[in-house]
Amino acid sequence: MSASRTAVVTGAGGGIGSAVASRLAADGMHVFAFDVRFADDAWSDDPHRDRIEPVVVDLGDHVAIKAAFASLAERVESLDALVNCVGIMRRGDALTISDEDWLDTIRINTTGVFFTCREALPLLAKAGTSSIANIASNWGLIPAPGHIAYNASKAAVVSLSKSLALDFGRLGVRVTAVCPGEILTPMVEKRLRDNNLTEAELAAPIPIGRVGRPKDVAALMSYLVGPESTYVTGGTVEITGGLFS
Ligand SMILES: NC(=O)c1ccc[n+]([C@@H]2O[C@H](COP(=O)([O-])OP(=O)(O)OC[C@H]3O[C@@H](n4cnc5c(N)ncnc54)[C@H](O)[C@@H]3O)[C@@H](O)[C@H]2O)c1
Repeated sequence: MSASRTAVVTGAGGGIGSAVASRLAADGMHVFAFDVRFADDAWSDDPHRDRIEPVVVDLGDHVAIKAAFASLAERVESLDALVNCVGIMRRGDALTISDEDWLDTIRINTTGVFFTCREALPLLAKAGTSSIANIASNWGLIPAPGHIAYNASKAAVVSLSKSLALDFGRLGVRVTAVCPGEILTPMVEKRLRDNNLTEAELAAPIPIGRVGRPKDVAALMSYLVGPESTYVTGGTVEITGGLFS
C-alpha cells in the first residue's frame, strides 16, 4: 500500500460512492472500495486509481460483511475512515410495497450499514482518532410520500449513527449521518426516467437552483473524515441545496 491512511467506502461502485472513493484517494488515503458490482471502467481515468482497491462484497449479507472485514484485518493494523454510501431505493406505500422490497431495503440500507459499522469498529478504534460518515437521506428526516421502506431505513441510519457516536466517542471514533437531497446519480436518473421528469424540473424547488453532484457530497466526506473535523460527531449534516423535503 502506497498510503498510510486507510478508508473503507461502501457502495463505491455507485454515483456518490465512486466520487467519494476518488476524493479520499486524491486526499492521499488508500481506499478499500466495497460494492457488489463495479463497472469495467471504474476509476480507469482516475489519476489516483492505484490507491483505490475494489472489493466485491454483498453488503446485504452480514456473514459476507464479517468475512470482508476479517480479510481486511489481515491487511491493515487500523482504519482511519468508513464512509457508508451503500443504498437502494424501492417505491411503495404500506399497502403497495412488496414484502421483498421492504425486506431488501431494510437488509441493505439499515442492517448492512449497522454490520459494516460494527465490523469496522475494532479497526477504527485502533487508529486512535477515526471517523464514520453514514449516508442517510433528507427523506430519513422528513419522509417522502410513497417510499415507506426507504424513508424508514434512512431514519434508522440517522439514529444508529447517533448511538454509535455516543457509545464510541471515547474510543476516538466520530460518527456523522449525512443527509443528501437530490444528487444526480444513476439512482436519481432512474427516478427522473420513471416519473418522466427533467433535471430542470427536479431543480426548480431547490433554493440554490441546481441538482447536486456526487463531488459535492465527496467534498463533505473529505472534511468529515479529515483532520479539520475532530470536534464533529453525533450530528446530522444535510447537503440539499436548501431543500427541506
Ligand atoms: N442520489 C441522491 O439524490 C441521494 C439522495 C439521498 C441519499 N442518497 C443515498 O446515497 C447513497 C448513494 O446513492 P447513489 O445515488 O450514489 O446510488 P447508486 O445506486 O449510484 O449507488 C448505490 C451503490 O450501492 C451498491 N449496492 C446496492 N446494494 C448492494 C449490496 N447488497 N451490496 C453491495 N453494494 C450494493 C450498488 O451496486 C451501487 O453501486 C445511497 O445510500 C442513497 O440512498 C442518494
